This record gives sequence, structure tokens and C-alpha cells, in this order.
Amino acid sequence: MSNSQNASDGHPVADGAVPTASSHRRVVVVDFGAQYGQLIARRVRDLQVYSELVPFDIDIDELAADPPAALILSGGPASVYAPDAPALNPRLLELGVPVLGFCYGMQAMASALGGTVPRTDVGEYGPAELTRASVTSRLLADTPAVQTVWMSHRDSVTKAPAGFTVTASTPTTAIASMEDVSRGLYATQFHPEVHHTSYGNQMLSAFLFDVAGLSPDWTMTSIIDEAALAVRAQVGDERVILGLSGGVDSSVVAALLAHAVGSQVTCVFVDHGLLRKGESEEVEAVFTQQFEVDFVRVDVAERYARVLAGISDPEEKRRRIGSEFWHVFFEEAARLEARDGRPVRWLAQGTIYPDVIESGSAKASKSAATIKSHHNLIPFPRGVHFDLIEPLRNLFKDEVRALGTALGLPEHIVHRQPFPGPGLAVRIIGEVTPEKLAILRNADAVVREEIDAYNEELAKATGVRDSERSVWQYFAVLPDIRSVGVMGDERTYAHPIIVRAVESRDAMTADWAKLPYEVLGRIATRIVAEVEGVNRVAYDITSKPPGTIEWE
Ligand code: XMP
Repeated sequence: MSNSQNASDGHPVADGAVPTASSHRRVVVVDFGAQYGQLIARRVRDLQVYSELVPFDIDIDELAADPPAALILSGGPASVYAPDAPALNPRLLELGVPVLGFCYGMQAMASALGGTVPRTDVGEYGPAELTRASVTSRLLADTPAVQTVWMSHRDSVTKAPAGFTVTASTPTTAIASMEDVSRGLYATQFHPEVHHTSYGNQMLSAFLFDVAGLSPDWTMTSIIDEAALAVRAQVGDERVILGLSGGVDSSVVAALLAHAVGSQVTCVFVDHGLLRKGESEEVEAVFTQQFEVDFVRVDVAERYARVLAGISDPEEKRRRIGSEFWHVFFEEAARLEARDGRPVRWLAQGTIYPDVIESGSAKASKSAATIKSHHNLIPFPRGVHFDLIEPLRNLFKDEVRALGTALGLPEHIVHRQPFPGPGLAVRIIGEVTPEKLAILRNADAVVREEIDAYNEELAKATGVRDSERSVWQYFAVLPDIRSVGVMGDERTYAHPIIVRAVESRDAMTADWAKLPYEVLGRIATRIVAEVEGVNRVAYDITSKPPGTIEWE
């Protein structure tokens, strides 16, 4: 920490982001439409080739200065004729590296090279039967003559550009794939990246390994080794500080830093008293017993209780929790500096690739580091400066989890369900008090125990686990009302608990989980019996939208 003023608004600046895939040759996915590109980048990574996502209007000179081993042009929702259609810069096709275009990417490639892509009225959506032409194809390689592919398009290429060979068709689409081997240009109207394309992975493999000459060498071991090297190169023998929340991302950063620069790291765990039952003890146990780091737990539950007293407005609660976090954190950093007699220069953060992509673009993210999760809107106080280190900024969430497992983090941390930074405070409607926190914590523990058990049963029965599990976020909410009940011979006037359990893949949309009545029944019976102050349980059956997952 230093007191030099950095950006005028007091925002942190990532002076030294960990370099990307270093020795690995990378594949760049040019994104013509949000969700398509991410999926492709993930498929490529699944094949153990490092890949990055860039926006379609990437600066070509920047790309050419450090050329990738191959390019993939994603699909996109636009028609090449739409006035605001994302344009393909033809220079992308002239970088001297192989290019593979999917769907919109194929159409953009064809239009740029003089092919014909007429507007059509007949689209093709869903599975289609692909028949290979009787020519050899490097892309389709030894996949079957007839196979199922996934289509999702209206326009299509009706005349391939000069030099291209048409390699397959479907009943609706005469040019379903094409290639110009001499120029290293390949394209499919269908989507090899989706699972419904039966041989999509083989085609991607053919492109990566045969056409582009890449090797499947981006493995967990190489990720750990490279990240450790990069961290060591970056921080030298200086001290690093990390705000540990107990969440997956900050825990994986802590484990990685422990591996890379062990004794130089201090993990500051700000226990604000808003965590779930048993959570602080679990975090402390892992980072004091399993990893060699300097672990500091700051118990500030009382301080937070004071900060939150009398506050009912959800946004004000969030703001206070976030800014108090930084106050505590900076006080701790200053204390450590005084203790050790030397400055702490580096602040490690659990920024992950989706944060980078969402914060504008991969391009912008290099200069605009953001503070994520519960403190994501809170800039550093004026005059405070750390250099940032973000060792996970190139990894997707499931890769972060795999990395955590490879580094030895226990399952309960690596597969923790999402939990908001402001913790239980956003699940207590109205003022947060120690009494309400105790009620919610106990009720929440019951909800988690019962649904964990149910998930476990489901996993055994279906073989589907973890991030793909059907119920992915589940918790209790304490509303600011009371109702009448009767327990024993006495009338009660106590709080209800709302149970919230949702199915989702990315938290952007969610549906309420169709939990069996028996599970809901057990939860309700146990909560009323075990949690003092609760006499009623209700189940939230709202999807998102229109609801949100959290209640505040
Ligand atoms: P909503 O409630 O908006 O939540 O449907 C979507 C996902 O984000 C989590 N969430 C938060 N995470 N700080 C966080 O770090 C927050 O303030 C916050 N609010 C919601 C929520 O648990 C869900 O997974």
C-alpha cells in the first residue's frame, strides 16, 4: 500500500496483470455475438488449447503484433445485411493464420471474399442431417458421410468465394461447410461448438491439431506452473495481501499464491458476522491448517452490527457493507506494514474471465481493473494505492474450480454455491440485528442440510454433479413481518422463513426448483421445530425474471 495518488478518481490500476498463456500458443475467438463466443472459447479450452475471446472490432495491429496460432469467427444473432451488423475486418483473414468461421462467421467470411449470401425467408433451426460432398475435407476429416449437426440461421451462403470447395450440405442449406485449404480458411454454417452437433469436437480437433498444428498442452498442471511462474516474476520478493471471503475465487487465488509465493502472502479474512453457519470456521481451518500462508482473521461482527443498525434500505446496506470492508481491510494492511516494517505492495484479487469479458471487453479490461463482488462498486479511498495481481483473470469459473481442486482445496469450498458478498444482510428484509441474524443463520443451515442431502441423492441417481446439478442456489430469507401461529398450547406471533431454491446455469435467469413435497415438508418441519422465533415457512415459487434470486 502506498499513499501515492493514482487515477484521479481513486480507482486502482492494474499495473501488472499476470501475463496470459505465456508459452502456449493461443486461439483467438472473434466474438460477433455475446454468448456464442464464450461457448467456443470453452470448447477449445476443453480440448486443452488456450483460447481467448476478443470483440469483433479488435485492433488488428495489436492482434498482428502477437499473432495467435488460429482464429475462430463466432456466430452471432445478426444478419450480415442488418444495418448494425458487426462487420468482419477482412484483414483478419490475411494474418497468415488459419481461420474457422461458424454460422454468422461463415457468412461474414463469404461476403468479405466475394461469395454470395442472399437474404432468405427459410431459416433452419435445430438438428439437421448433414451429408458430406464426395471430396476430401480437412475440417470434416474422418467424420461420417451423413451426420447430425445443429443449425440456427436464416441467411446462408449460396455461392462460395473463389478458391473454396463445398464440403457438405443439408436439405435446406446447399453450402453447409466449405474450405480453402491453400489459404487456411474453413467455415461451417452449423455450430460445431454445441453438443447437438454429433462430431463437432472432432471437427474442432481437426482444425486445432491438424490444420493449425497446435498441441493439447494447456493442462491443469501447466496452468498451475505458469501461473506460479508469472506470479513470482511479478511480485519478486515483495509482500502480497489478499482479501479472503471464503468464496471460490478468492480461495483459489489464496491457494495459488500459497503455492507460488507462500510466505510472502497475507490472507486477510474479514469476518463481518454476515456469513452462514460454520463458514468462518471452515475458512479458517483450511487456511491455517492446509496452506502455508500468513492468515489473519479480523472479527468485526460488532463493528458491522453498529454500521448496519437502523438501516433498512437494501442499497444503503450494500453500500455500508462494501465501504466498511475496505476500511477494515486498509486498517489491517497498515497494521501489517507496521508489524513487518515494510510495505505491502501487491493486492491479489479473484477476478475471473467472465468479469473481464463483462467489464466491457478483453481489450478494455487491461487498463480498467475493477474491484469485484461485494466491493465491486467501491473505489479505493483517495491516496491509497496497491498494484493489482489477478492470477485467475484468464479462467472461466469451471476452470477456476478445477484449479482449486488441483491445488488441494476441499470440495466444500471449490463447489460452494454462489453467495452474495454482503452475505446474510441481503436476505434479512429490513434492519439487520444480531437476533435476526441468528434466526436466519439457523434456518439457512436447515435448508442447506436438507437440499444438500437431496442433491446428493439426485447425484447418485443421475450421475449429474456440482455445477450441473439441478438445484444450484438455495437459502433462507427472513422477511420483516410476523404472523400468528400456535405451538403447544400457546399462540405465537413470530417470523416466517421464506425458502428460496432455484435452478439456473448462470444466475442471469432462473426458475424455482421443483423440489419434492417431502423435501419441502422436512425443511418446514425442522425449521419450525429447531429455530426459535420462527412459526411458519413459505416457499418462493417465482422465477427470474420477473423476480431476482436474492430478495434484496
Ligand atoms: P439476483 O438476486 O440479482 O442475483 O438474481 C444473481 C446472482 O448474484 C448474486 N448476488 C450477489 N453477489 N454481491 C455478490 O457478490 C451482491 O451484492 C449480490 N447480489 C446478488 C446472487 O446470489 C445470485 O447468485
